[in-house]
Amino acid sequence: MSEGTRSHWGSKAGFVLAAAGSAVGLGNLWKFPYITGENGGGAFVLVYLACILLVGVPIMVGEVFVGKLAQKGPVGAFGDLTPRGSPWKLVGALGVVTGFVILSYYSVVAGWAMHYVLLAARGTFSGADTPEEIAAIGAHFGALYADPTLNVLWHVAFMAITIAIVIAGVQKGVERAGRVLMPALLVVLAALAAYAATLSGFGRAVSFVFGLHTEDLTGAGVLEALGHSFFTLSLGMGAMITYGSYLRREDGVVATSFVISGLDTGVALLACLALFPITFTYGMEPAAGPGLVFVNMPTAFAQMPGGSVWATLFFVLLTFAALTSAVSLLEVVASYFIDELGWSRPRAVAVLGVAILLFGIPSALSGGTELFGSGFSTAIAGALGQERGKNWFDGLDYLASNWMLPLGGLGLALFAGWRLDDVKRRAALSEGGTFGRIVPLYLGWLWLLRIVAPIAIVLVMLHAIGLL
Ligand code: PFF
Repeated sequence: MSEGTRSHWGSKAGFVLAAAGSAVGLGNLWKFPYITGENGGGAFVLVYLACILLVGVPIMVGEVFVGKLAQKGPVGAFGDLTPRGSPWKLVGALGVVTGFVILSYYSVVAGWAMHYVLLAARGTFSGADTPEEIAAIGAHFGALYADPTLNVLWHVAFMAITIAIVIAGVQKGVERAGRVLMPALLVVLAALAAYAATLSGFGRAVSFVFGLHTEDLTGAGVLEALGHSFFTLSLGMGAMITYGSYLRREDGVVATSFVISGLDTGVALLACLALFPITFTYGMEPAAGPGLVFVNMPTAFAQMPGGSVWATLFFVLLTFAALTSAVSLLEVVASYFIDELGWSRPRAVAVLGVAILLFGIPSALSGGTELFGSGFSTAIAGALGQERGKNWFDGLDYLASNWMLPLGGLGLALFAGWRLDDVKRRAALSEGGTFGRIVPLYLGWLWLLRIVAPIAIVLVMLHAIGLL
């Protein structure tokens, strides 16, 4: 499609907010704190930050710029920029499949956030004083997790909202949401972190998150940090290619990539600073797993003045953060069917949205049924000859985040670094910014993309499977 007919962002800020909306989501507020807790804090955080800087940011620049150059989503972009029949298209296809898989379980967690909006608004998280009352606050998560009906209902509700927004289209749906909600989220998180700084566990939390305890870090932890740097920045599956494809020629891509990555990392660290002081103040377990944010935050809300209001605000914003990310996941999947197969937007979004919804049902049933929960993990453990397996939900997250996204990122890095014509690449990067013309910066980026990122990804993967 020519630049004239493709829809474009209403403004540069529209792109920045929507891309930041995609990046900032459950990955920052739900997943990052819990995997930090499971991996012992400090050293994991440091590896994660190194991955963001050395692998994530260069790949983000690569994705946005490949999208802008091709004016297409991932499959079309790889296809258009290479000769007919070239296998590079497969990298784009892997991205579409990854988006499908991620959204299927992402929506289940977003459903938990929606359930918590209701609980919070009903005043569930206020006025807990005795140890029994405080423990009862945490127990709400266990009850929700084990309830198949509630999980499925909220998952369906969240997917329905996501589908409705994506049918409405690029500008109306995505752009407007980010404009208001992102700043609101930052303000609320900063306020909660300020509150957490007054708690007695604050010092321990800071040394947990920023102290260097290398003994706790494993090869699997390093793989998880790498995978999470892709997950949190929405990289490795073409979301940023898709959003970049709605940019005009005159829009720059480098400065915005830095802004988005910085904002995303800031939100993740702020989330840890709000959350871990509560963990340590109330003697809770940092390695509590996927329930962490749903247990810790309410425990603090229940003892804060105006706790119900804060709790409601927090979970509303968490839901919206999840929504702007979910929208980008569905957008990648749907835009393949729209751009490459010629489907209408409503048809593509409705059909694929419903397919993802159905594929997500086993994830919604992973906490409350034997079939996709403990029975599934035992079967997996048996099949792999290991002591412990993962249930359906955890297994999909592990596969998608730790393997599929980094593989997609590896493909993109090799493509943008080695396959694209240097003259074209440089010219395209010079449009709308000075980056392409500042030689050391350009070469620094290029060699990060060509050598550092691919080698890092391959080494971490080999290490994780015990070959290194
Ligand atoms: N970046 C999102 C988060 O941190 O919650 C998740 C995500 C969105 C991953 C879009 C990948 C993606 F393409």
